[in-house]
Amino acid sequence: MSKIGIFFGGKDNGSTAKVARKIQELLGDEASIHNVASAAKTDVEKYDFLVLGTAAWGIGEMHSDWERFIDTMVEADLAEKKIGLFGLGDQKIYPESFVDGMGTIFCRLPHKENVIGYTSTRGYHFYYSTAEKDGKFVGLAIDDDTQKEFTDERVKNWVKQIREEAGI
Ligand SMILES: Cc1cc2nc3c(=O)[nH]c(=O)nc-3n(C[C@H](O)[C@H](O)[C@H](O)COP(=O)(O)O)c2cc1C
Repeated sequence: MSKIGIFFGGKDNGSTAKVARKIQELLGDEASIHNVASAAKTDVEKYDFLVLGTAAWGIGEMHSDWERFIDTMVEADLAEKKIGLFGLGDQKIYPESFVDGMGTIFCRLPHKENVIGYTSTRGYHFYYSTAEKDGKFVGLAIDDDTQKEFTDERVKNWVKQIREEAGI
């Protein structure tokens, strides 16, 4: 059974899905991928390690499928599960709410101490993000709209980091 569940919200051909698939490729056979549009609480319960991703929408919202799924997800017992977050956004058009969807998922988690994979904000240019805590992003921030050239390297570095932090 796979130990790692990657849950993303968004279209299957969107940038968030693309990043989810890259993460899965790098994590290998132990990782399964779910679109939250069709995921259930039992899917969440199967895994020891959850990777949760969303783009930012509206004024710093998660993808609408996450808005529906997050209450179901937090009904599962997350106390012993490690969690990694990734968020997509556009820092040029939305510099005051950059990757805020990731900040919203973080804010809704009952066990924030289980979140691993914080990353540096260096190299990004924005004014404000709810995904920034104590000078770091609470996960992997991807701007595939204006910094596409960094996406692969950022994903690769982050997967290496979470593997080390989670011991997987
Ligand atoms: C209506 C709309 C609102 C958006 N709001 C934000 C935002 O508040 N913050 C941000 O960083 N990006 C925002 N974005 C940019 C998207 O998050 C970004 O384009 C993302 O890569 C889309 O992912 P997807 O292809 O999986 O849908 C917005 C985009 C649209 C179209």
